[in-house]
Amino acid sequence: MTFRQRHLLGIEPLAPAEIVTLLDLAERYVELNRRTVKRADALEGLTQVNMFFEPSTRTQASFELAGKRLGADVMNMAVAQSSVTKGETLIDTALTLNAMRPDLLVVRHPESGAVSLLASKVDCAVVNAGDGRHEHPTQALLDALTIRRAKGRLQRLTIAICGDIAHSRVARSNLILLGKMENRIRLVGPATLMPADGFGCEVFEDMAAGLEGADVVMMLRLQKERMDGGFIPSAREYFHRWGLDAEKLARAKPDAIVMHPGPMNRGVEIDGTIADDIRRSVIQDQVEMGVAVRMAALDLLARNLRAERGARATEEGIRV
Ligand code: CP
Repeated sequence: MTFRQRHLLGIEPLAPAEIVTLLDLAERYVELNRRTVKRADALEGLTQVNMFFEPSTRTQASFELAGKRLGADVMNMAVAQSSVTKGETLIDTALTLNAMRPDLLVVRHPESGAVSLLASKVDCAVVNAGDGRHEHPTQALLDALTIRRAKGRLQRLTIAICGDIAHSRVARSNLILLGKMENRIRLVGPATLMPADGFGCEVFEDMAAGLEGADVVMMLRLQKERMDGGFIPSAREYFHRWGLDAEKLARAKPDAIVMHPGPMNRGVEIDGTIADDIRRSVIQDQVEMGVAVRMAALDLLARNLRAERGARATEEGIRV
């Protein structure tokens, strides 16, 4: 097994072989999740705590299901009812939970870098469930699994990532992962929502040109919570120029797939008819793959945690 990480904080530290290991294991969990009885024991006896300092439907629900299906004791910390509201800091909150000896900590936080900082203060394995505009590694991994299943490969594809690139951790994690797997990545969107350096990718302001011949059209949500000014003219104008409709999609390959990480703003980022067209849209597949990928990530981290603890116990035994 090739997966040497103690934490899953981003796609950046992962080697291509580690990504493949995780996706291959996730395939097995896709099968398990389609059975009537969805049970395995990879996390038996372990405690998983989910701490979400930003709203979430897909990520939080799928991490909870993933942990429970693998036999962990799962606790969702209710941030709105916690002592965070009395001014307790992220680190003090994490240290407090760490003292209760969890094994896996899943964290979403609005500040870029907050999850890595937290990981340096605790003893357990930490998973980044999205930090500011930095990374959302499990989203990129579930997107990769969805693409691999739909296109039969994860290499040599032309992938257009469209919309609010500048504020999107989903875009960042995806372009790192898809770049590591040797795909051709295009960033498409208004100049106001494009990072200054374009992350070294091909950049298109014109949607039709950006989608020309694409195998994968990945739409993004407008991250209004991270915008501190007028980045788009109006929702109507945005949809007209950068929203995915049938006319723009016709520029991509006839078998191109349509993705969106959710939550979607229908009629702004994407036409609802396209989002619901199961001949083109894999948006619900992305949600399904999310549970399997998170099971694989928790399983691999738990294996490394057990190995590390086993090695430490052996070393201490020898010293005694
Ligand atoms: N894609 C994603 O992260 O969705 P949630 O915010 O609902 O978790």
